[in-house]
Amino acid sequence: MNRKEYPINPLKIAIIGCGMVGSSSAFALMQSGLFSEMVLIDANRDRAEGEAMDLSHGLPFARPMNIYAGDYDDIVNAAIIVVTAGAAQKPGETRLDLVRKNVAIFKSIIPEIASRQCEGILLIVSNPVDILTYTAIRLSGFPENRVIGSGTVLDSGRFKYLLGQHLSVDSRNIHAFIIGEHGDSELAVWSGASVSGVPIHDFCEMRGHMDHDGAMERLYQDVKDSAYAIIKRKGATYYGVAMAVRRICESIVRDEKSVLPISSMVHHKYGIDDIVLSLPAIVGSEGVEAIVPTPLSPEEIQKLQASANTLKAVAEEVFTDA
Ligand SMILES: NC(=O)c1ccc[n+]([C@@H]2O[C@H](COP(=O)([O-])OP(=O)(O)OC[C@H]3O[C@@H](n4cnc5c(N)ncnc54)[C@H](O)[C@@H]3O)[C@@H](O)[C@H]2O)c1
Repeated sequence: MNRKEYPINPLKIAIIGCGMVGSSSAFALMQSGLFSEMVLIDANRDRAEGEAMDLSHGLPFARPMNIYAGDYDDIVNAAIIVVTAGAAQKPGETRLDLVRKNVAIFKSIIPEIASRQCEGILLIVSNPVDILTYTAIRLSGFPENRVIGSGTVLDSGRFKYLLGQHLSVDSRNIHAFIIGEHGDSELAVWSGASVSGVPIHDFCEMRGHMDHDGAMERLYQDVKDSAYAIIKRKGATYYGVAMAVRRICESIVRDEKSVLPISSMVHHKYGIDDIVLSLPAIVGSEGVEAIVPTPLSPEEIQKLQASANTLKAVAEEVFTDA
């Protein structure tokens, strides 16, 4: 197989893992109109077939598209390969608890992709997403820019939503990022947060909120604990992340060069090297174009480094065992 024989089809997407996250992402992507072909792969073939049938029955109300259950030979020319396969987080289980189970699953999936010389972008969603994106880079041999994790795109969306509620303003006008691990060691970048250019504390005061420390702590904890709070109530989270997947795909296939806090390999940034975590990055048709040098306060840099160390310890443990 070579690229000439299998040129990339920019209108084709593959989803590996058709559980709650994979099928919700497929549903969001189907409605986006970004693709004309979508192949679904799951270890449980019936599941993939059922999802493809169910989604296809909605096409008369959307746009024509070919949605089908397939296998790895079908992904070769996909522009984006989304991986959502894996065990989901159970109540009380941290994302890092999942690591061993899902690294083992990746050891069966990623070599299948790598052996087919796919030229598309690999978008990892399974958790712990940073460690699994790191695993995918190592196992695939793909250039680092072509392997992206959904990272803290979802967490930043939660952050904007909660800030929008707090300030009674459209969340799309809020500029704020959650960075670091997609998990317990993540941090909110308060120093650069703004509403349409107005520094966040000034905007808070304009809306009558004076207890900055209390509000910052409460909002951060609410973002960080969102997944636990949802899992406790309904067993899994999937709609929010599906919208995050759709947004990342949009930036890739339309070469939008949007700045999104995806997770990617970090080299020599903020004293951090050779670990995958989330930082605002320019995302386009080549995947990660550049990590944006967002100004951080000394305290934020310290927290980011602590987050990187947490991830590094896990990565080392996983790959020493391997
Ligand atoms: N990154 C994020 O923001 C985010 C948010 C929510 C969930 N997640 C993660 O997404 C993953 C999926 O969650 P879910 O709720 O869809 O779980 P799920 O159990 O509903 O679905 C997992 C699917 O993966 C399939 N699968 C397992 N091994 C496979 C393999 N080797 N090849 C192909 N398919 C395989 C299963 O058959 C199942 O259909 C979990 O790791 C979860 O923690 C990530």
